[in-house]
Amino acid sequence: MLFAMMTRLKFSFIAAFLFLGSLGNAATCSDCFIHSRAAHYPNSDDNGTETGRCGFGTFGATINGGDVSAASDLYRDGVGCGACYQVRCTNSNYCSDKGVTIVITDHGSSDNTDFILSRRAYSRMAQNADAAASLLAFGIVDIEYRRVPCSYPNKNITIKIDENSNNPHYLAFVIWYQQGRKDITAVQLCETENYVCKLLDRSYGAVWTTTSPPNGSLSLRMLFSDENGDEKWIVPVNDIPQNWKPGDTYDSGVQVID
Ligand SMILES: *[C@@H]1O[C@H](CO)[C@@H](O)[C@H](O)[C@H]1NC(C)=O
Ligand SMILES: *[C@@H]1O[C@H](CO)[C@@H](O)[C@H](O)[C@H]1NC(C)=O
Ligand SMILES: *[C@@H]1O[C@H](CO)[C@@H](O)[C@H](O)[C@H]1NC(C)=O
Repeated sequence: MLFAMMTRLKFSFIAAFLFLGSLGNAATCSDCFIHSRAAHYPNSDDNGTETGRCGFGTFGATINGGDVSAASDLYRDGVGCGACYQVRCTNSNYCSDKGVTIVITDHGSSDNTDFILSRRAYSRMAQNADAAASLLAFGIVDIEYRRVPCSYPNKNITIKIDENSNNPHYLAFVIWYQQGRKDITAVQLCETENYVCKLLDRSYGAVWTTTSPPNGSLSLRMLFSDENGDEKWIVPVNDIPQNWKPGDTYDSGVQVID
């Protein structure tokens, strides 16, 4: 029974895929805007929150000039942390065509929303300051959104060691400044003598952890996955030094562009 149902689901999925394919836009539709709603954080701060569920801390409130957002379904159990979206509201009396590009740094939903934007990001969907005041007063607006590449000019992917880490017993970190529009779906740490590697756990949000990390300096591997399921391991140029410390940041020496 279950098997029959799964087969049917699979069949209709393939049928839908073929249908899109026959329209000739299966590839470009990842660029299509999707209709939804967006609210803004209720606080008076223009930036996002420092306690966002992605675990980015202050970085999660201020990255991208403070144009950040909480996501509901798009949070994807933390895989969506750090992803960028173009979000534009749809009321032509108030809203600009371009909208705003935001980074997901938190998890949450309001009244059927996909995004809870920082006040700054929410205001930036408006045509001008008066329109922004009106949009803020509405509290929730109709929007459309699409995933776009993140862009951090002159930044490499950077490892920020969590304050709760304890060398050599427990290592937790988040990954900053990931460009492009791929997801990091797995992370390994390898010791640099025999390159024996250990898969890390995503403890929550964008926070990767391991008890008893390998000895010595650490070589990181990040698995980048795109929306078609293509996967690729990226190996940074720089290792994390043996004497890594809570709170420190380490430049990986690499960046991804798409
Ligand atoms: C908000 O973010 C901007 C840009 O990152 C930063 O300059 C500013 O200090 C932040 N404001 C607060 C109150 O943290
Ligand atoms: C890690 O390094 C320490 C100090 O060099 C050493 O005592 C320990 O045996 C090493 N542990 C492993 C698992 O290699
Ligand atoms: C990024 O890494 C490269 C080495 O791979 C380095 O030359 C460059 O200075 C780094 N960029 C920044 C902004 O740190």
